[in-house]
Amino acid sequence: MNHDASTRPDAAAGQTPIVDAPSLDAPSLEAPILEAVNVTKSFTQDGTPTQALKGVSLAVAPGEFVSIVGRSGSGKSTFLSVLSTLLKPDSGELTYNGLDLARASEADIDGLRHGDFAVIFQFHYLLPYLTALENTLLPFMRGLRPVSGAQRRRGLECLERVGLADKGHRLPGQLSGGEQQRVAIARALVKDARILFADEPTGSLDSATGATVMELLGQIHKDGMSVVMVTHNEQYAGLSDRVVRMADGLMV
Ligand SMILES: Nc1ncnc2c1ncn2[C@@H]1O[C@H](COP(=O)(O)OP(=O)(O)O)[C@@H](O)[C@H]1O
Ligand SMILES: [Mg+2]
Repeated sequence: MNHDASTRPDAAAGQTPIVDAPSLDAPSLEAPILEAVNVTKSFTQDGTPTQALKGVSLAVAPGEFVSIVGRSGSGKSTFLSVLSTLLKPDSGELTYNGLDLARASEADIDGLRHGDFAVIFQFHYLLPYLTALENTLLPFMRGLRPVSGAQRRRGLECLERVGLADKGHRLPGQLSGGEQQRVAIARALVKDARILFADEPTGSLDSATGATVMELLGQIHKDGMSVVMVTHNEQYAGLSDRVVRMADGLMV
């Protein structure tokens, strides 16, 4: 599969690829690693219900990079939260690697959140009083167990991967917005997750910094990770294998 947007005919024509044409090696023909079928979710605020998801389905193949685009309020973040188990759907099916997440134990889901699944958001959510390296190591810090030497080396390796090997000692406040987001990516990578969920990862960055973050996501995907990204940016969406669109709580 060709991941270089500049050589894609649809990108060259300035159009947005909707779905890659099926071919024998298309990831969508493989058994999905993650699959949501007919997911619904509603919220009630001040007594008024909102149906954020009205029956949404998506299958993500192993190693696939899928972008979800749509207007604000169309349900993208809600859907990503359901996919990443941060939010429980009201109805529908959710399967990860053969595991039925609707019926999985808390321990299994906890294991996924701390293992195979990684999440990054529009805002980096770094802890301001921890250094870049300590923030990167947060997923290893459970209970009072100290971080091992091997884990520390892994943290440094991930910081190096995002181009911040020399800034591990800095506090978030001493880093630029793009660097902060790269630390959040390093933190997402440290556990060797299999799927990265990214909700508007470039949403608060200027275009040059956003492009650097996208380049990094492209690298991570090339190295074999599945990526599900919500974005407003059609150009960035075009860098993924497949673009799906949401409107008013539905896939369109
Ligand atoms: N926690 C919540 N409580 C109440 N309403 C919510 C909540 N989260 C999302 N919504 C509503 O659900 C709809 C979809 O929101 P969201 O998934 O955040 O959309 P998007 O990410 O596409 O902008 C919106 O109408 C939003 O106001
Ligand atoms: Mg959103």
